[in-house]
Amino acid sequence: MNLLTSWLRKKQDLPAYPAVEDFSSIGTDIHSHLIPGIDDGSATLEDSLMLLHALQDLGFKKVVTTPHIMSDYFKNTPEIILSGLDTLRSAAAKDGIHLELEAAAEYYLDESFAQMVNRQEKLLTFGGNYVLFEISYINPPDNIYNVVFDLSIQGYIPVLAHPERYPFWYGKDSIYEKLKDMGVLFQLNTNSLVGYYGPAAKQCAENLIDRNMIDFIGSDMHGVRHLEALRKVVDEKYFRKLSATGIKNSLL
Ligand SMILES: [Fe+2]
Repeated sequence: MNLLTSWLRKKQDLPAYPAVEDFSSIGTDIHSHLIPGIDDGSATLEDSLMLLHALQDLGFKKVVTTPHIMSDYFKNTPEIILSGLDTLRSAAAKDGIHLELEAAAEYYLDESFAQMVNRQEKLLTFGGNYVLFEISYINPPDNIYNVVFDLSIQGYIPVLAHPERYPFWYGKDSIYEKLKDMGVLFQLNTNSLVGYYGPAAKQCAENLIDRNMIDFIGSDMHGVRHLEALRKVVDEKYFRKLSATGIKNSLL
């Protein structure tokens, strides 16, 4: 049996899970770039408000927006992000948006982040002690285990953003298992389920779901292009499976 046949058979074998109308059972989106003008996400306040209205219409109750902190490109600080959150909250309230709005960050695992953790600088978190972080899409990180250990002993719970989007780990189940054993939680990008990031990321996402390794989902919303894909996700079998089997978003 070739890989395609095996994959098709696996999809056909997926039991029917209840239909999902919208994202109201998910409740909280934990990954987005909606503070205008400080990273590669929403560029203007008007765009941010439009996207927040759309998330509200999709059933979300709460949005934790997570601007990039990346030493080479987006030199954001907690002060910059929290001040942007204040502005966004006021504008959203005036525009009739009832979503609960919070902010954390998406930390890029570079040398600067490793040093920040090593110096025990206070990090932006969501849900009390969750720290969202991402790694390079091109090179496997050589310091991930050390940084995860340092985060954990400081009481943080590391949450790896979009584990399905790192091609150098495709087929290497043992790496995902080692990270989980170290206490890392996994946040799937919801749009991976409709193939937005390509077939390999979709297949990896489904494999992680089948192995019960996904703890959170997130829109990773940067702009309207992500919104269009997000609207299609509720019809996906694997989104239904995740919704039926439980993820932590609704607990936040
Ligand atoms: Fe992101």
